[in-house]
Amino acid sequence: MKILLLGSGGREHALAWKIAQSKKVEKLYIAPGNAGTVAQGENVNIKATDFPALKAFALEKGIDMIVVGPEDPLVKGIYNSFKEDETTRHIAIIGPTAEGAQLEGSKEFAKGFMMRHHIPTARYKSITAENLEEGLDFLATLKAPYVLKADGLCAGKGVLILPTLEEAQRELKAMLGGMFGSASATVVIEEFLSGIECSVFVLTDGEHYKVLPVAKDYKRIGEGDKGLNTGGMGSVSPVPFADDRFMEEVRTRIIEPTINGLKEEKILYKGFIFLGLINVEGHPMVIEYNVRMGDPETESVMLRIQSDLVDLFEGVDAGNLDEHPLEIDPRTATCVMLVSGGYPEAYEKGKLMTGLEEAAATGSILFHAGTQRTQEGVVTNGGRVLAVCSYGENKANALERCFHAASLINFDKKYFRRDIGFDL
Ligand code: AMP
Ligand code: GLY
Repeated sequence: MKILLLGSGGREHALAWKIAQSKKVEKLYIAPGNAGTVAQGENVNIKATDFPALKAFALEKGIDMIVVGPEDPLVKGIYNSFKEDETTRHIAIIGPTAEGAQLEGSKEFAKGFMMRHHIPTARYKSITAENLEEGLDFLATLKAPYVLKADGLCAGKGVLILPTLEEAQRELKAMLGGMFGSASATVVIEEFLSGIECSVFVLTDGEHYKVLPVAKDYKRIGEGDKGLNTGGMGSVSPVPFADDRFMEEVRTRIIEPTINGLKEEKILYKGFIFLGLINVEGHPMVIEYNVRMGDPETESVMLRIQSDLVDLFEGVDAGNLDEHPLEIDPRTATCVMLVSGGYPEAYEKGKLMTGLEEAAATGSILFHAGTQRTQEGVVTNGGRVLAVCSYGENKANALERCFHAASLINFDKKYFRRDIGFDL
């Protein structure tokens, strides 16, 4: 089979690594890919949202399946675009329709969907400039802190958590006034939930589903979850509190109502559903849906999938996912992200990286996120640079292996968190 994977981050390198292990793959292309994905396939210089160019490439190369890494192409309707076109209809797309992608593309849609299907989530109100007063009043009924979410996609920046009512009311006006452009023309105000979060990944063919290994990510730049939000500083899988009882509740109260709800609403969905969950006094509630895998959770999750991922994708496309086994590695997998000093604020690029081969020789697996190959060697090319991933019998020794490998890799102003998994 010829596969085209879309995206360019650490998540996509991890997906490429797993896809390339499949005996079913004859050729893997990654568009646009990164300096790491060239070890698994051929990078193609096409943007993941350039549908005409992707179609032309897919037809020229005889692509059988497209696996969509990021949300952008999904929300923009890559599934619909390929399936509505007679010449590309035969190509399997792993990812939902534009209608399904609204679960991530519109917070208002996602909240309404959860209400319609009785899926546990925080109380909310959806506000536009027309009903601003209602929003200000609703905020006054809530306890601090206050959660404001831009309705549309904001590259992970659209959620504000504010300590006082005054700030919340001021920021609500600023968001409606265009703080995130048209993405915040509608704002969802939510009740704040306290608890520990985890990420549950579901693969579905629209009818059947498989629950992939559960993971937890660490988003803040500083140890102890302090400081600014980042694209993700590390991840751990499994998550001890996501035990059999908790997961049974996730299945019956969240996953099955989600899949049945999509069917009831006649929304075709063949791909990943990412449930951002919070454990509120032992019970799972949904913080958010995403319609793709998480980054940097994928880097740990892929290590723990023993089955052939492409075989599972075939089940997604054919609608018989129930006939395709999912075997999970019982070991722990951890991921520690090496980032550029200064990130997520200003940082420098182009720093020469050394020790990559030595680190890989320890058995740790390196997924590139922001690197570039040059004549002198591999250099940094982003804030998040490299995901160092390891297996262990438990979290402590998996992390120890990550930290050892991380210590062998050097570049100017390298930084990583040494406390990944501290709260588990
Ligand atoms: P999101 O962009 O939806 O992932 O939100 C970013 C982060 O904000 C989440 O991972 C949570 O940590 C936090 N968050 C979002 N909604 C809530 C909520 N209702 N209560 C508490 N924390 C929240
Ligand atoms: N790790 C969270 C996300 O990918 O959105």
